[in-house]
Amino acid sequence: MRTVYHPTLKRGVSVLGFGCASLGSRISRCEGMRSLGRAYELGVNWFDVAPPYGDGQAESILGSFLGGGRRDHAVICTKVGIARPEISTVKRVLRPPARWAVHAFPGLRKQISRARSVGSRPPLEPATIRKSLEDSLRRLKTDYVDVLALHEPRIEDCTNTKVIEELENLRREGLARAISIAGSVDAILVGAKFSRTFDGAQFPNSPFSRNIDEICKVDVLERLFLVTHSVFDPQVTSRLVQLLESKAGLPEIEKSPTKLLIDYALTKNSAGTVVLSMYSSRHIIENCMRASREIDPSLLDLVDSLVSSTDNNCNSTG
Ligand SMILES: NC(=O)c1ccc[n+]([C@@H]2O[C@H](COP(=O)([O-])OP(=O)(O)OC[C@H]3O[C@@H](n4cnc5c(N)ncnc54)[C@H](OP(=O)(O)O)[C@@H]3O)[C@@H](O)[C@H]2O)c1
Repeated sequence: MRTVYHPTLKRGVSVLGFGCASLGSRISRCEGMRSLGRAYELGVNWFDVAPPYGDGQAESILGSFLGGGRRDHAVICTKVGIARPEISTVKRVLRPPARWAVHAFPGLRKQISRARSVGSRPPLEPATIRKSLEDSLRRLKTDYVDVLALHEPRIEDCTNTKVIEELENLRREGLARAISIAGSVDAILVGAKFSRTFDGAQFPNSPFSRNIDEICKVDVLERLFLVTHSVFDPQVTSRLVQLLESKAGLPEIEKSPTKLLIDYALTKNSAGTVVLSMYSSRHIIENCMRASREIDPSLLDLVDSLVSSTDNNCNSTG
């Protein structure tokens, strides 16, 4: 696995991050522990988690996994802003049969995830930020997180001096070593220009959205360590499939849409980390293998020209 240097953490981190959003919900604790172990053995050391992930279970499961002597090698990014959901006993009991149903009938995944409880969003205030981090640390069984990110903040939260002061206090006390914004490009642009407290940004990126270009074109944001996600977003994947089917004679380009998407993500964010959901063994092995190869920057031109050729077609056909 290739690594990149994180300037605030002053250490190497894996170019692939393990996304924990389904850890404890779609993915059982046992299956999740196995997947975490496989990814870790293949060199993944960045773990992306948040209080509401896995119906509120993900931080505890990750904490148990890292408890076995792996904590110092791992980089934990957790978040603040969306609370852990309250899960009723009925929902807890229904979770294993729901998992079975999704395995047996993958088409049900969308309906079941729609029925999932989402955490509330209490206003971001110093006391709630501190309490949220203290609770996360307890569940993660650690005394610091490497990165604390504001989770889908409103733009006003990113320029709220009380919020920023508290984030600095947490950093000074050693409870969080780096501070990031995991949210919209607008929130990132406004927040990171407003305060140097923010040294990282996390956001979705794809050949069709190119959020990373918006952020990278601002000189003063060069300091940010970038984390991208939503590589296999279903809409992105199906657009790319259509595009590849419509283009004959593309000898230099990888024809498998998922391989192309992961290569594109790793190349586009070559100085940062790409966070993926990867629980099946096949996905873990394939993604880690792609992340172990040297990147080829010419891929970006190829994908960009592929995408812009349809933009032009769409424009010309109205
Ligand atoms: N606001 C935020 O901070 C935010 C928002 C969204 C996501 N995230 C983070 O990003 C993580 C990933 O979420 P995402 O929405 O971006 O999902 P994703 O990585 O785009 O994954 C979507 C699906 O692609 C599958 N997949 C993985 N590798 C594959 C491969 N090589 N070939 C084919 N399919 C593959 C995964 O399957 P399996 O998982 O079943 O293996 C998963 O079901 C989350 O867990 C979370 O940590 C953060």
